[in-house]
Amino acid sequence: MRKWLVLGAVGVVVAVGCGDDDANEGSSAGAAGAAVPSGLPCELEDMLRQECWACHGTSPQAGAPMALATRADLMAPAPSDPSRSNAEVSLARMQDAAAPMPPGALPDATVSDVLRAWMDAGMPQGDCDGGGTVVFESVCTSDSFWGNGDEGSPFMHPGAGCIGCHQQTDKGPDMLFGGTVYPTHHEPLDCRGVPDVVVEVIDGDGTVHAATTNASGNFLTLRDEDKPLVTPITARVMYEGRVREMLNPVESGDCNACHTEAGGSGAPGRILLP
Ligand code: HEC
Ligand code: HEC
Ligand code: HEC
Repeated sequence: MRKWLVLGAVGVVVAVGCGDDDANEGSSAGAAGAAVPSGLPCELEDMLRQECWACHGTSPQAGAPMALATRADLMAPAPSDPSRSNAEVSLARMQDAAAPMPPGALPDATVSDVLRAWMDAGMPQGDCDGGGTVVFESVCTSDSFWGNGDEGSPFMHPGAGCIGCHQQTDKGPDMLFGGTVYPTHHEPLDCRGVPDVVVEVIDGDGTVHAATTNASGNFLTLRDEDKPLVTPITARVMYEGRVREMLNPVESGDCNACHTEAGGSGAPGRILLP
């Protein structure tokens, strides 16, 4: 398997020459938490940075109601229940399949155990100051890359923002929506995703537009005068009877523009296989 640090992705993004700022998004998510020393042990700081700071950084994003960037934040009363700390409510939500945090999928028990162990120890002061490093590692699970540059094809540039580039270059078809589905949250540009996944986009009129991923893991629906896309939209991804949904409506069908390698605009990273 090929492993890439996010720094490696900067070159790739520049090479395709299409406005995509996933590397910047990644460092800003890291920096959001590191603007103030967290006062937390490093293991816990790393877990929060990776799992939570995309939304619960020093300036909360994507509708998250509070920051979880420092020890003081974790000890503060929870917005929904001031009799409990943010740490207590966080641990509960990280184990609550009906309302999981991060949204969409319950994390592995080893992830919530990091928070639990710190709470059991009495929430001790730590001296970690991550300094804004982007810590996630990106893996191309399929170990298979698109290698034909801008040659027009439904299989082209998996992971890249299809609509943005077609509009910028004024080439390529006009799409209602398009993107790529991956087996993990952090996969590099041009890495092939998972085929045969059904993606349904539910538009503002309640119309459901469906598409299936191809051998690159790409899905797309071409624009059709009779079937416009009414924004805002939500989406769900279906595979072998399992479903993963986007809960918050968005204004654009350029899925990979937010679902970048690092995760941009509050998205947790790539569109994940259910
Ligand atoms: C993609 C964005 C996103 C990520 C990542 C995320 N959250 Fe949230 N979080 C939200 C949103 C939006 C809400 C408000 C809606 C809700 O409560 O479901 C929320 C609410 C919460 C609440 C409820 C607070 C209250 O008092 O009601 C807790 C606790 C929480 N998040 C903890 C976490 C933890 C811990 C992580 C990481 C393990 C995490 N979240 C990751 C977006 C996110
Ligand atoms: C970096 C720019 C760029 C990105 C990113 C990009 N495309 Fe394209 N695409 C093009 C260009 C340029 C053409 C036209 C090529 C030509 O005319 O030979 C094209 C053409 C196409 C065509 C038409 C092929 C044909 O036979 O006429 C399809 C389908 C397509 N792209 C799908 C996608 C999908 C799906 C994505 C996202 C996963 C995507 N593209 C991402 C630049 C891009
Ligand atoms: C403007 C940014 C944006 C765009 C565009 C966008 N998303 Fe999302 N997506 C998010 C955010 C933020 C979340 C996390 C909060 C949520 O689940 O609502 C998310 C979560 C998801 C999830 C669930 C979480 C996960 O790990 O997979 C799926 C599935 C998803 N999006 C699919 C799509 C599809 C399909 C499209 C294109 C039709 C799309 N998204 C376009 C921002 C975006």
